[in-house]
Amino acid sequence: MRKTVGLSHKPLGDKIMAGILGTGIQDGLLLKPIHYPWAMELYDQAVANTWFPNEIQLGQDLSDWKKMTDEERHAIEFLMSYFNPNELLVNKALAFGVYPYVNAAECHLYLAKQMWEEANHCMAFEYVLETFPIDREKAYAAHVDEPVMARKEEFEMQAIKRMTEKQLDITTTEGKKDFIRNLVAYNIILEGIWFYSGFMVALSFRQRNLLRNFGSLIDWVVRDESLHLKFGINLILTTLEENEDLQTEEFADEIKQTILDAVEMEEEYNKAMLPKGILGLNADYVNQYVKYLTDRRLEELGFEPHYKVSNPAKWMAAANDTYELVNFFESTNTSYEVNATKPQAKSDGPVSPAGARGEAEAGNEINTGNEG
Ligand SMILES: [Fe+2]
Ligand SMILES: [Fe+2]
Repeated sequence: MRKTVGLSHKPLGDKIMAGILGTGIQDGLLLKPIHYPWAMELYDQAVANTWFPNEIQLGQDLSDWKKMTDEERHAIEFLMSYFNPNELLVNKALAFGVYPYVNAAECHLYLAKQMWEEANHCMAFEYVLETFPIDREKAYAAHVDEPVMARKEEFEMQAIKRMTEKQLDITTTEGKKDFIRNLVAYNIILEGIWFYSGFMVALSFRQRNLLRNFGSLIDWVVRDESLHLKFGINLILTTLEENEDLQTEEFADEIKQTILDAVEMEEEYNKAMLPKGILGLNADYVNQYVKYLTDRRLEELGFEPHYKVSNPAKWMAAANDTYELVNFFESTNTSYEVNATKPQAKSDGPVSPAGARGEAEAGNEINTGNEG
């Protein structure tokens, strides 16, 4: 399950760090020298990406909403019902399962920014709930009442409970495995597969000239999430590289099987979201995208692709592409350099504060025209 991504793990300067895992009580109180430059780069990028939900006006989208079919509105309500509690669930996974077990201060900086971003996503989806005539009580209840959502949440809760209700000793092989299991659950599966499948459905409306501003909100969420994913994957790979006791075939098989089980849960969920399908989109289409995405996640972790299906939604961003991930760590990141010179990331969408100031926008905006 190992994969080299050109990361530098060698201690710099005089300060010797035991590794990325630890309490952070000693090493984590001093930022320099940086031991994990990728975490610092991600922090800088995340700060440059800062945005606020009220920068986007949803008035036109409200007119679109009134024209949409019941099935289309059901799909959006379903997504909002799912996204909202799960943004907060990610923060619990970070607070209880990641932050306390990571040594490096640069990782703590990034995690603090990510936690604010998850809070911001929660508020963005609250804004959507307030704007569209969605029954909040029903939307809030769905993650418990809707069996396909409850099943996904129960899976995530198991990982979080393992971190909070059990005494976790990060110095033992079993403790380190639980740390990785939690990361795989909230980062690879929830953020990297389940959320992306929802983003694709949400953005499909813009392909038909509907909910364009909502689409911009989702773009900004995706931009954040792509960095969350990069951080999580690098944390997993670094932990595996630094801990030989985790590099067993048995553990690799367990991780892969967990990911494949999550795909099965997602297939059932998408059937409930799109029972009859909507124009240009049905559950089979979404589930093929889920399998395509899952293969990318497996490759990023060093596995062979499992499903080997083509991408049915080529209009979606290449943000989640393996090559983007590798390119991110090259010394000259051309996509960021290019975007840094553009005052606007998109010609027809709102501009975040970073964009308005001409600062670097993440090079992972949704590419609706084509995909490499
Ligand atoms: Fe989020
Ligand atoms: Fe996230």
